[in-house]
Amino acid sequence: MKQIVITILLCATAIIGLRMAIDSYRPKSEEGGVIEAIKARRSIRKYTDKPVEREKLDLILECGIAAPNGMNRQEWELRVVDSKEWIDRCTAAYVKSIENTPDAERILTPDFRNMFRNATAVVFIAAPEGQYAGVNCGLLGENMILAAQELGIGSCCLGGPVRFLTSSDEGREFLESLDFSDGYGLLYAIGFGYPDEQPEAKPRDKSKIRYIE
Ligand SMILES: Cc1cc2nc3c(=O)[nH]c(=O)nc-3n(C[C@H](O)[C@H](O)[C@H](O)COP(=O)(O)O)c2cc1C
Repeated sequence: MKQIVITILLCATAIIGLRMAIDSYRPKSEEGGVIEAIKARRSIRKYTDKPVEREKLDLILECGIAAPNGMNRQEWELRVVDSKEWIDRCTAAYVKSIENTPDAERILTPDFRNMFRNATAVVFIAAPEGQYAGVNCGLLGENMILAAQELGIGSCCLGGPVRFLTSSDEGREFLESLDFSDGYGLLYAIGFGYPDEQPEAKPRDKSKIRYIE
């Protein structure tokens, strides 16, 4: 009898401990996970130096490829760069390419750390040309952004670096190092990192939504 009671107590303690660990991992919310994450998300452009752990990146990427996609053909390729050395080298080439252009003053502000809006990890997303490439990769990206939000990791969608990587002599070396398959073009990137800012929500125009009776 005593042994049964001890076993029950041990199981209960383990379950409570597990529950507390899961709860401390998730943001508290009355609305619940996904809605809370959607409402709390902002584009983040200032991060701490703390790198995003590989196991968290793995989970974010796994959530990305769980997105709905046309006929489940999974026509996307993702490349993850969390090497500070790569990011800094690419940024140095980019900075050199905009020297003495009107962009330099606007971009190279005192907050500038790197060309990926200061992210410590960047996921590059490529797809073959096709009617649904943007839809597939957009859904994939938002899944990753919301998964990151849930894990306390900030993000910013990045179209800006694509031009440098795809259309400049200085950027080509870095695009090639991403090693996308033939026929795949870089669509956009998403920067990730631990947020070091809490921007206000940008207003949204609800008049864009209409019910048709
Ligand atoms: C396709 C796409 C490209 C973007 N490119 C950039 C970019 O190059 N640099 C940047 O700072 N933000 C970029 N953003 C982020 C938008 O500026 C941001 O989502 C928008 O201003 C709304 O703000 P919020 O994300 O905080 O709600 C991009 C967003 C999308 C969806």
